[in-house]
Amino acid sequence: MAETTNQTPHTRTASYLAEPSEVGRVLLLYSGGLDTSVMLKWIADEYEAEVVTLTVNLGQPGEDYEVIEGKARMIGAVECFTVDAREEFARDFVLPAIKANALYGGGYPLFTALGRPLIAKLAVEYARKTGCDTIAHGCTGKGNDQVRIEATIATLAPELKVIAPVRGWQMGRDEEIAYARRHGIPVKGGSEITPYSIDDNLWGRSSEGRWIEDLSHAPDDDVFQLVTPPERAPDEPQTVAITFERGVPVAVDGERMELVALLEHVAEIGCRHGVGIVDHIEDRIVGLKVRDIYEVPAAAIILPAHAELEKLVGTIHQNQFKGQLERQWAYLVYAGLWWEPLRGDIDAFMAHVSEQVTGTIGMKLYKGSARVVTRESPNAVYDQALASFGESGGLFSQQASPGFIELWSLQSRMAYRLREDLNPTGAGPAEADES
Ligand code: ARG
Repeated sequence: MAETTNQTPHTRTASYLAEPSEVGRVLLLYSGGLDTSVMLKWIADEYEAEVVTLTVNLGQPGEDYEVIEGKARMIGAVECFTVDAREEFARDFVLPAIKANALYGGGYPLFTALGRPLIAKLAVEYARKTGCDTIAHGCTGKGNDQVRIEATIATLAPELKVIAPVRGWQMGRDEEIAYARRHGIPVKGGSEITPYSIDDNLWGRSSEGRWIEDLSHAPDDDVFQLVTPPERAPDEPQTVAITFERGVPVAVDGERMELVALLEHVAEIGCRHGVGIVDHIEDRIVGLKVRDIYEVPAAAIILPAHAELEKLVGTIHQNQFKGQLERQWAYLVYAGLWWEPLRGDIDAFMAHVSEQVTGTIGMKLYKGSARVVTRESPNAVYDQALASFGESGGLFSQQASPGFIELWSLQSRMAYRLREDLNPTGAGPAEADES
């Protein structure tokens, strides 16, 4: 056995976890960062296994995938793959989230939670294609991502095993760096030694760790690598018009775009105007609370625009009901149960509602805020002539209102009267109580 800092005995606590003897060829989900680079070498030594790497492009800005593949080969990967999954991610994961107006905990647009099931699905595909028996990932034992990835693998590929070295190897950051240096694994300077923990894709970016864990610490500007801090955003506001067809965003300011391009374009505009910074306390699935700093420029424009349009084309009953399913959808996805049939059931509902969601919403962006300012839809359940306060008073029959009010309030009035008779208000404690 090779040198190891692993003091944890290999105890199988779940059926899908790999015993060392079962591991011959490993598909490693490889980001090119310190954890997964150390892991590549560590797995090859610890398990005496061949390692195949898979890197998934979900639109994380500024990655050089050739450099990542080169690094993997240099460390000893026997095969390296990079998959550009942006289109599938946008179409099959982000789009359903838009239709579900998906925000977890009131502020998190779920970009990481949406990405993990796709990454794990691709890991399964490539593991099968390349004859791997095991999938390895770099998630810690404290987060949601391990849940999302392992639940996906166990669902889609019961024959595959999983290893998650970070949960067991008991190396901290410094030990990992020392390990990397000992084995000639390149370690980037400065920022990689005390970084935030970052995860990003075309739907957003999160930062955790360092001062972010100190809840009394207001965000330092160096955490914002995507969105311009609002105070430095342009003094001139900008209004962007987002056009939706059947729930799908299809054009910006009248210019039609494919979904990936549209999301990237809107993100760029949002970034410029300081839009989409979210400082979020969140209940993780594994029990902990965590603080995340999110930068979600596209989501902060597209989600409110979509929700506004939907509100316009839906009836009061549709609009009141949908929120309940939206919450359930967001929770299932956050909680790593992408493959749960209920999610698909809810998607079918969302898709049906989306049939009407066509129109254009203008969003005014200004120093960090994104506000709806214009609305247009052929399907709006809205009639300006009826609603008008103009001279005619509009076509809505105001004379009919009192009859409506009498019947509408009937049960409430009866119930109020009954309670009042039993226990009159305004008279302090009821006399009867004092006797
Ligand atoms: N808190 C978010 C979530 O659970 C973001 C997690 C980011 N992941 C990471 N490895 N830094 O989805």
